[in-house]
Amino acid sequence: MPKTTPTSRSELDPVIVASVLGADYARLGHEVAELEAAGVDRIQWDIMDGRFVPNLSFGADVVAACRPHATVPYEAHLMVEDPDQWLQPFAAAGCDTVLVHAEASRHLHRTLSRIRDLGVRSGVALNPATPLACVRHVLDQVDVLLVMTVNPGFGGQAYLATMEGKVAEARDLIARSGLGTMIEVDGGISAATAPRAVRAGADLLVAGSAILAHPEGRTAAVAELRRSL
Ligand code: DX5
Repeated sequence: MPKTTPTSRSELDPVIVASVLGADYARLGHEVAELEAAGVDRIQWDIMDGRFVPNLSFGADVVAACRPHATVPYEAHLMVEDPDQWLQPFAAAGCDTVLVHAEASRHLHRTLSRIRDLGVRSGVALNPATPLACVRHVLDQVDVLLVMTVNPGFGGQAYLATMEGKVAEARDLIARSGLGTMIEVDGGISAATAPRAVRAGADLLVAGSAILAHPEGRTAAVAELRRSL
């Protein structure tokens, strides 16, 4: 059974989520096992359709094939034009959280309800230009609010510090609403930027290249990230 991670914020140190976008695709099963051994709390699959973002990545069968190789929770970050058709396949592939983009969802409240009806955590991702107001009326349906700190599509991009204002605004909105929604950030997260994102209010930190391309290896990278917080 996948390892569960606490869902209430009070139990959490910041959660380290490894993005496998920059992993070695010829050995993905080994890569997720190595990331778990390196100490990450969750693994995020960046699902790209070449339309919502100018890049193409994994299908649900790839995620399902890797599920047996790690016990940490999997997240599917759907960077796709029509997310509704992919909710069930990625839940069935073993993802514990399915995140859709607000910009790609015509009926976001219904989509979030459908994700929860599948028995997995629901998430909404906001591109840098998308205001927090887009999720204000559906926040009770959101387990994870992903504030993108880069424009989605590629790893290794520069962290957009201007997004810290949106993270802080989200933290305030969630606190005032009394909900347990967790805030995730994704893009350019490293030992240099993670403390800033956490100070702004982030609970979950998605890191790809800071872990996968670290010169001293994945375990050192995860330890360095945790020490920075
Ligand atoms: C953007 C992707 C990346 C990836 C991590 O579409 O979502 O943010 O997860 O990339 P880096 O290398 O910036 O951590």
